[in-house]
Amino acid sequence: MIVVRLLRRQLLKLLYRHAPPETRSYKTVRPRCGAHDPWTRGGRSLGDTSRCVKYSDSISVMSTDQVELADLSKQDPEYLDLLRRVLAIQADCEIGGPHLYVDAMLPSAPTQIDQLVVARTAAEEIDHFRKFARLAGDIGVDTAYILSRKNQERYLEAFRGTITTWEDFAVFGFLIDRVGRYQLEEFAGCSYAPLSRLLEHPSRVLDEEAGHIDFGTTRTAEMAAKGGEQKERVQKALNYWYVTGLDMFGRSASARAERYRQWALKRRSNAAAREQYLAEVNPLIESMGLEVPDPLAGRKYL
Ligand SMILES: [Fe+2]
Ligand SMILES: [Fe+2]
Repeated sequence: MIVVRLLRRQLLKLLYRHAPPETRSYKTVRPRCGAHDPWTRGGRSLGDTSRCVKYSDSISVMSTDQVELADLSKQDPEYLDLLRRVLAIQADCEIGGPHLYVDAMLPSAPTQIDQLVVARTAAEEIDHFRKFARLAGDIGVDTAYILSRKNQERYLEAFRGTITTWEDFAVFGFLIDRVGRYQLEEFAGCSYAPLSRLLEHPSRVLDEEAGHIDFGTTRTAEMAAKGGEQKERVQKALNYWYVTGLDMFGRSASARAERYRQWALKRRSNAAAREQYLAEVNPLIESMGLEVPDPLAGRKYL
């Protein structure tokens, strides 16, 4: 057990060592380590003040002290509420993808390989749902209703419609699965050990997400390269999913997002994660010869 913990800490150190340079400036954190601050709670709770360090102005380093399922009864009610909420939302997002595209895209995929990819992607997302639903179930959250709820009732707007064109399916993988990767990365090294373990390297979930993103990116680039009407259709799909994806990060001034960070359930602010995402996708869009949409036009959550 000790060896496993040491190995995990080494992996977390490696993870942070490979973070972008601007996020590597460690310094001791300030007064938020107060009597009621989650980082300062004793016992097998969420860490001591000596571990309370800051990652950058926008990204806090997770405490390497983590709690297990058996420790949850000792945790603050707010921590439990946030944990229940984030697991239910993640489960909803995982199953939301297949419910968007399987009906129309599976039978209409243009090639055998594309059809296999649609089926495999859906199967992997359903497995991700199963994994998050199990974590949620362990802490008393019933997610059975999520499996069959209507698309219009999904937690995030991105999952409330349907995908009926190959352009939308490809750009969804390129942009929205990429947002999904950002959300999942938040949990690697987080304060709830069972959740962290799911996303710590090597993570099957993150590897599969990388496959979805690669496929979507490749297909989007291929369609854009054809030019003409095909390129126009891809640009139209991109315009829609770009704005939708930026909104998925949530409001920059979200008070709840700050609580997630305070409890070390997430590490980046919504604004910081969105900025990193923009820095990643904009050059890719330009390299495909497509236009980068206005990042503010049509946004619902700024
Ligand atoms: Fe997924
Ligand atoms: Fe995915």
